[in-house]
Amino acid sequence: MHPVAHPLFSLGIIIVAAGRGERLGAAKPKAFIEIAGASLLQHCATTVNTLKVSGQPAHGQLVLVVPEGQAPAAFDVAESLDRDRWQVTVVTGGRDRHESVRKGLGALGPSIDTVLVHDAARPLTPADVFERVVTAVHETGVGAVPGIRIVDSLKRVDADGTVIRSEDRDSLIRAQTPQGFSRRVLEEAHHSAALLASHPEVLTATDDAAVVQHFGGRVRWVEGSPLAHKVTEPDDVLLLAAMRTVSEQSS
Ligand code: CTP
Ligand code: MG
Repeated sequence: MHPVAHPLFSLGIIIVAAGRGERLGAAKPKAFIEIAGASLLQHCATTVNTLKVSGQPAHGQLVLVVPEGQAPAAFDVAESLDRDRWQVTVVTGGRDRHESVRKGLGALGPSIDTVLVHDAARPLTPADVFERVVTAVHETGVGAVPGIRIVDSLKRVDADGTVIRSEDRDSLIRAQTPQGFSRRVLEEAHHSAALLASHPEVLTATDDAAVVQHFGGRVRWVEGSPLAHKVTEPDDVLLLAAMRTVSEQSS
């Protein structure tokens, strides 16, 4: 028997970890490089294990979407989850992030009605960001995307480097993950997006919120965290390692 954290909602978390990490240029896929002795995917799983919903330990299904050949490493990560609370499924990813999300959605059991999609490349995203996203989806019924405000001045430039003008940053956020949706809305949007896959100019979405919005879904912003920073280039690994050290010292 699974303990019931909330009688009305059943949570699925998809961690997309199937990218190759070309910009990072490491010897292995990005999700499996280590920061402070644990892989990026392991950091994410450790956070999922500590999640709470409505003050109670969260439970549900965790889907790990990984590159071909990385299933054994993903099963090691799965072992670290509390199996009384999390059913863990490992699936192989697709050619792009959207296809990996679709494969993750395809692995969800029938009882799942709320879905969070998270980048393994954001390994230090704190549990409270996940919790804000789940709460927002449950309370509003629309999608939720975590994001942080922009502190730098924003300039629009043209192709030859001329600054055309300054842009208003007060109405902009930097979007992060996990992004949360009702399962039905996310599945329908990704299904429709798949039909447009041969027309990339029609759908330029780089995240799930954009896919959902392209097909008319509503999405709201919740506060993200600087710790949800994404590993893209080698310097990001150094930055996150330093941030982790500082956040551990101050907690
Ligand atoms: N991702 C995925 N499947 C893909 C591509 C990306 O699951 N086919 C995941 C990545 O593993 C990552 C997240 O989507 O956790 C964000 O993608 P990105 O930062 O672009 O990672 P990579 O695609 O691995 O990096 P790059 O674009 O530099 O190759
Ligand atoms: Mg990529």
